[in-house]
Amino acid sequence: MPQDGNPEDSSSSIRAFGRPILGPDHRVAACAVLATGLVGACLVVVSNSLIAELFATVRASSNEVSKSTLYACLALSIVVSAQAVQAMGYEQLSSKLAIGYRDAQEKALLLYMLRSGGVVRNRVGTSQAVSLLTVDLGRTMSGVVSILGVASGLLSLAAYIAWFLFQSIPVGVGMLLVVVFFYSVNIPLARRTARNDSIVMAAADKVRYFTEDHLMAAEEIYACHEERISARMSDHLIADRRIAYARFSQSLSWQVALNLVTPSIGIMLGFVTAMLLGTDGGSVATVVPVLLWALPNMLGHMIHVSSNIQSLSSALVSLNRLQSMFGLEALKAGRAESCRYSHAPRHASEPTRLLVNGFRAVRDGIAISAIDSFEATASKPTVLMGPRGSGKSTFMRALAGLEQPANGRVVVNGFDEMWGNLREQDWISYLPQHPSLFSGTVLANLCLDENAASTEQLLGDQITHLTGLYDLLVELGIRQGRAAETEALEMSHAMLGLQFDVGRYGSNLSGGERQLLALGRCLLRRRPITILDEPLNHLDLATRARILSFFTSSNINGILIVSTHTMDGLDLSGVNLQKLSPPHGERSRRYKVSCP
Ligand SMILES: Nc1ncnc2c1ncn2[C@@H]1O[C@H](COP(=O)(O)OP(=O)(O)OP(=O)(O)O)[C@@H](O)[C@H]1O
Ligand SMILES: [Mg+2]
Repeated sequence: MPQDGNPEDSSSSIRAFGRPILGPDHRVAACAVLATGLVGACLVVVSNSLIAELFATVRASSNEVSKSTLYACLALSIVVSAQAVQAMGYEQLSSKLAIGYRDAQEKALLLYMLRSGGVVRNRVGTSQAVSLLTVDLGRTMSGVVSILGVASGLLSLAAYIAWFLFQSIPVGVGMLLVVVFFYSVNIPLARRTARNDSIVMAAADKVRYFTEDHLMAAEEIYACHEERISARMSDHLIADRRIAYARFSQSLSWQVALNLVTPSIGIMLGFVTAMLLGTDGGSVATVVPVLLWALPNMLGHMIHVSSNIQSLSSALVSLNRLQSMFGLEALKAGRAESCRYSHAPRHASEPTRLLVNGFRAVRDGIAISAIDSFEATASKPTVLMGPRGSGKSTFMRALAGLEQPANGRVVVNGFDEMWGNLREQDWISYLPQHPSLFSGTVLANLCLDENAASTEQLLGDQITHLTGLYDLLVELGIRQGRAAETEALEMSHAMLGLQFDVGRYGSNLSGGERQLLALGRCLLRRRPITILDEPLNHLDLATRARILSFFTSSNINGILIVSTHTMDGLDLSGVNLQKLSPPHGERSRRYKVSCP
């Protein structure tokens, strides 16, 4: 696992798992956003005083175009252009910063929940709510700013039109043309901005769903893939959103710039025409338009800057909360930071024989799972059979590194091992009792591993065929009904099946189909120890028999441990059966019933 960040940075960065999630770069960017916002407000002040100056000069100069009017016009056009450039820069900078924060939050969340094996969903949920609130707040504020921007443009133009109409009808008509131009450009631009905004929302939702799906399946990923896979996948998703966000901020910045420039063009055009035609304005006409244009415009700038301060500070609160959670939970779970990343040296040979002695898992002082002796070898599948609540899942979770037993020795190929080491060595492929699928294609769900096979390899794999996964892919392909009419029709259906979107948590599939897909994913990892917790759940008898015969036909190289309640109707001749009974002493205490 890469060790990002320089240790010298630690004092100036907010860190999680040794990685800087909020570093000096972000702070510089935050200062730049605030500084640009303040520059904008100053520019508004300067341009307003120049307009007032212009009004005064026009009134004083009466019939001539004086030098000072020309200077004022020139200065005004420079200030207004600077204002437009500043506004564009401001939008770009602040959106870049905002997405930087969101990226950091999402990655930190993802890493955190994988670290904690999904134990602290509520806390993560709270933090997510805070960050979503931040976005909502930002959106509401930018909505207010947009309304103010449009209102200021409208009011100022209406004021100038009234003024010039009062002074001179031809100039008034000219001003009307400016209004028509403004709205004919602004409306399509605003629509484009809104469309881009919805693309950003969709991309953000994708990241959110992905995060939530991972939260559900955190244990499987944690046991089999560490964090690297989800980090890699989230990078990909976040990259998508970055592009969407960049487009959105670009169109928004153009819109803001246009809002600023057009009324100013109108003002100057009006003045120059009025001077050329020799019209004059009264004192009311001097003050009212300046106020109408200046006030909402300045207010808009101020709100924009303050909303940024607000959303930045709530992003900081949420990041700080995450950071404190990391620290607390790492201690609580008793999972030392160092052992996550330090992979113990691999054995010279892969595990072929696994022994467990004196296993005992305890909750609240009560044994929930106890196995005196357990043996599994690579020669045939080991079936752990026991009634409900007898502790099968607890034992399997301990083997997968998700549970720390109170007692027990685990011996691999004759060597004593730490419980978590099986996972640390990447030996484990684990199918939880309630596996989760991720929103996305069948292919993405099957190939979580970095060493994902090509689609051809996947479709040609004997695991895909012998477990019935291939048939399922063909069915899903047919369901989509777009396969090419070629000789290899079945194959092209299976290819299509790989592209089938399983929906959130696999909601587009039946329970059995979901189970088969999750089982396929687990087997395709081809790890030396495969742990399947109730893999035959939700499957019909024929499929169960087919999968059991796949297990017993020595198609799996390595140790295979399968738990089940019952093997009714199935042939157990080829398996190593280990029966488990509930830990009775403690159980009777637990379920003690007092009789009258
Ligand atoms: N977090 C927990 N806190 C307290 N007791 C728990 C906890 N998790 C599981 N148990 C209890 O431990 C016992 C063993 O649970 P486990 O899930 O290992 O059983 P199982 O053999 O897999 O059952 P099933 O066949 O129904 O899946 C059960 O009585 C269960 O209620
Ligand atoms: Mg169970």
